Amino acid sequence: MTLTNLPKNKKAILLKRPQNEITDDLFEIIDEECIEPKDEELLVRVDTIAIDAWIRTTFDEGSYHDTSQLNQGIGALGIGEVLISKSDKFKEGDFVSGPMGAQTHITMHSAAYQKVDNKSANPELNIGLLGLTTGLTAYFGLLDVGKVKKDEFVVVSGAAGGVGIIVCQLAKVKGAKVIGIAGGEEKRNFLLNELKVDYAIDYKNQNVREELESIAKDKIDVFFDNVGGEILNDVLNNLNTGARIAICGAISQYNNFDNILGPNAYLKLAERYSRMEGFTVMHFSEKFPEAINELTKLYNNGDIIVPTHYEEGIESFPKSIQMLFNGGHKGKLMVRM
Ligand SMILES: NC(=O)c1ccc[n+]([C@@H]2O[C@H](COP(=O)([O-])OP(=O)(O)OC[C@H]3O[C@@H](n4cnc5c(N)ncnc54)[C@H](OP(=O)(O)O)[C@@H]3O)[C@@H](O)[C@H]2O)c1
Repeated sequence: MTLTNLPKNKKAILLKRPQNEITDDLFEIIDEECIEPKDEELLVRVDTIAIDAWIRTTFDEGSYHDTSQLNQGIGALGIGEVLISKSDKFKEGDFVSGPMGAQTHITMHSAAYQKVDNKSANPELNIGLLGLTTGLTAYFGLLDVGKVKKDEFVVVSGAAGGVGIIVCQLAKVKGAKVIGIAGGEEKRNFLLNELKVDYAIDYKNQNVREELESIAKDKIDVFFDNVGGEILNDVLNNLNTGARIAICGAISQYNNFDNILGPNAYLKLAERYSRMEGFTVMHFSEKFPEAINELTKLYNNGDIIVPTHYEEGIESFPKSIQMLFNGGHKGKLMVRM
């Protein structure tokens, strides 16, 4: 590729801020010229992006993850192929992971990227497992915050989603008894049959508190929470003494930030000498190499699989973001450009 025949970039922009639910009319897909890379920059063909829950939070003012500006592009992590390199660190044809945005091409400073080893894209490994917002989040939340031990009862909410699938399997590898919570019979079967969890609860059709009581009344040692809201209360009511709750996210509340449902059963923490601790994956950045090494070994041994739901093309971005909330995907959700 030369600077004289740069491709067109197709990207999703945010037209207006959501009132609560995500709808198609919040977005538009536009064409624009690609930006010519300057010294130390790369022009990258976006191969695949992760549809992560944090992207939703950027649509609101004051987002922790940097607010998406109206009529501008939208952030997303992923992998892509270098088309033009003005940096010594990368060459044309290299695959890189890092910020891609919801678009088909990006021009960015090379320091934002890490080279990935594969000769062709492997989204399941590089996004689904080794991505910051997937496997690394699962790893540190379960091991460093949750401090899971063999034979303990571990509950995972959002268990059939991107982070949840890795937490469930990692907890099994560590010898824990895993209870996965997800919405619908199909996801319940997916958890039992594909992820091999010990118990699965369908929060849409079963009473979560009653089910937890029948499986592990007052015996929950670790709760990896992706969902918040009522499910957090149901778990708080069934803690073992010395339990650890890792607050990873609260997706049940993301469409209503002004009126968040907090845990009214929080005094159980005192009664059961337990603790609830929030974290973001970036708090563990110094230990990323350790996690990448360990997760890669588990993947290569077949101890961890990465079920993935692909949508195709940037036009599917609005529908994909809605899928985070309507139960439309199993495993890691991605858009292949
Ligand atoms: N702390 C960190 O550093 C960090 C990093 C990455 C992600 N996270 C958090 O991890 C969580 C999962 O993120 P992800 O990107 O992997 O998304 P994901 O789990 O692939 O998708 C979101 C899932 O949430 C479930 N969900 C949506 N609304 C719900 C509700 N009202 N009640 C119960 N479940 C609901 C849906 O599954 P069902 O079909 O089962 O409803 C959906 O599959 C999010 O809370 C995110 O913010 C935190």
